Amino acid sequence: MACIALACSDTVTQRWLPLPQPYTEDEARIFALQIAPQVLASGSGVERAIEVDGQFVGVIGLKGTDCNVAKTEAGYWLGPWARGRGIAAKALCAITDWALDTQGIGRVEVMVAPGNTASLATARKSLFIEEGTLRRAGHLHDGPVDLVILSRLADDPRPALAQL
Ligand SMILES: CC(C)(COP(=O)(O)OP(=O)(O)OC[C@H]1O[C@@H](n2cnc3c(N)ncnc32)[C@H](O)[C@@H]1OP(=O)(O)O)[C@@H](O)C(=O)NCCC(=O)NCCS
Repeated sequence: MACIALACSDTVTQRWLPLPQPYTEDEARIFALQIAPQVLASGSGVERAIEVDGQFVGVIGLKGTDCNVAKTEAGYWLGPWARGRGIAAKALCAITDWALDTQGIGRVEVMVAPGNTASLATARKSLFIEEGTLRRAGHLHDGPVDLVILSRLADDPRPALAQL
């Protein structure tokens, strides 16, 4: 729980995700033991730990799954100690391929605030295609934000994981 709390109380994570503030180990426990199992049980998505060499580094997830139109939305965050090594892009590609290849999903979306350069780079590297900007579609601690919407479809090109 300490690693989740550390990653989610980081200033960059708090800038770009509307997580509880302050983010304590109690919040981490609620996320891991209540929210993530509820998301899975409801069928709306899934939250998965990202591990490198057996060490927790972050979370990759799907949410807002709509089976009627076979679409879902991916989200991700890493602890600051794990950034800048291509881990987020690899995790995004892995969960996207899993959803498209095995879960009957035809479209995976990513929504990113325009100023979140690292997240935009992660989605672009993962060959998500930018479709436009939804005006004031998100809400962060600083207030409302526009959201760039990107997507990958089942028949879109995929990056080779080794190249990320
Ligand atoms: C978004 C996030 C997961 C990216 O993690 P990461 O492992 O560093 O991402 P990757 O290494 O896969 O790729 C990041 C790319 O962004 C670039 N990048 C990283 N930080 C950057 C910054 N501050 N400014 C510009 N580019 C940046 C990297 O150089 C890399 O591009 P490259 O491979 O072409 O050089 C991480 O920054 C994070 O946890 N942010 C806080 C939570 C968040 O914003 N989640 C997404 C919400 S939409």
